[in-house]
Amino acid sequence: MSQRRLSFAPLEGVTGWVFRRVHRARFPGLDRYYAPFFAPTVDSPLTGRGLTDLLPEHNQGVPVVPQLLANRAEAFLAAAQVLADLGYEEVNLNLGCPSGTVVAKGKGAGFLSQPQALDAFLDEVFRRTPLAISIKTRIGVTDEGEWPALLAVFGRYPIRELIVHPRLRRDFYRGPVRRQAFQYAVDHCSLPLCYNGDLFSPAACQEAWGAWPSVEHLMAGRGLVHDPALGRRLQGGQPLTLEEFRAFHDQLVEEYRQVLSGDRPVLGKMKELWFYWAPLFAAPEKPLKRIRKAKNLAEYRDGANALFRDHPFQPEAGWHPPGG
Ligand SMILES: Cc1cc2nc3c(=O)[nH]c(=O)nc-3n(C[C@H](O)[C@H](O)[C@H](O)COP(=O)(O)O)c2cc1C
Repeated sequence: MSQRRLSFAPLEGVTGWVFRRVHRARFPGLDRYYAPFFAPTVDSPLTGRGLTDLLPEHNQGVPVVPQLLANRAEAFLAAAQVLADLGYEEVNLNLGCPSGTVVAKGKGAGFLSQPQALDAFLDEVFRRTPLAISIKTRIGVTDEGEWPALLAVFGRYPIRELIVHPRLRRDFYRGPVRRQAFQYAVDHCSLPLCYNGDLFSPAACQEAWGAWPSVEHLMAGRGLVHDPALGRRLQGGQPLTLEEFRAFHDQLVEEYRQVLSGDRPVLGKMKELWFYWAPLFAAPEKPLKRIRKAKNLAEYRDGANALFRDHPFQPEAGWHPPGG
């Protein structure tokens, strides 16, 4: 029997522990939540915000997979040991981050430009890892022709799961996903595969399962931030209601207020979320402008309340990346 599952992709700055916990409490049913990446060094394998994000007491009841951004085996292994000591049993390696500073250091998607170094890294970490390792990867840096050789490298290791975002580094998150590259992996790779990319609706998820029946596991990021009830809808449940959305929103504001100091960082978190939430409301521009300009929580709430009160809620409208 097929075990179809949907998980929450990591979104740095968005899906930290507070968000994950509130989402899990209100919209249970997702398989896992992948934590945004932490970049370890040997001297600092897991510290500061990265450690806070992954402390077991912050993640109770939430099935979390931590993610590391590394190209040095020693740093990766030191962090993996800390994660094992915290009780985790799987760690995810980030080979997808397209950001210029990350790629310049040969990490994230930048590591894909050095298949031999990647091979040596994987050889070392798989010989010594205390944890199961999954990988989240793009299909290359500049050219789809890179993908078969990368898949051949991955195929040499007992990777628990290969999560594929079928875009090149140079695509960032834009343009159509390169479905034929994912198809190539389905046809040529015997590792368990997970598909990630542009799953913005239940129909898109069903379509992926229809196209690739052997792929049970899907991962959604932006679509799940936009519609926190996407997983429930996929299981045949009700669409998101305004009351539910508002309660989710209000709890996020409250919990961020409790852990962050002062209004400003709370406003930063909430303003970023509205990038994904705005299309839930008809003609949101005016109150959205108030939200974006808010200098304190009182001004913020005025804008958010105007949206909740005066603008029709349209969760079926769906989300599309601006300009994408
Ligand atoms: C703001 C933002 C932050 C992201 N942070 C991470 C991250 O920390 N680790 C990672 O593997 N991917 C990260 N991603 C990529 C997402 O996990 C995901 O692969 C991408 O958004 C495509 O999936 P989607 O179309 O379902 O959103 C990020 C994407 C965005 C837009």
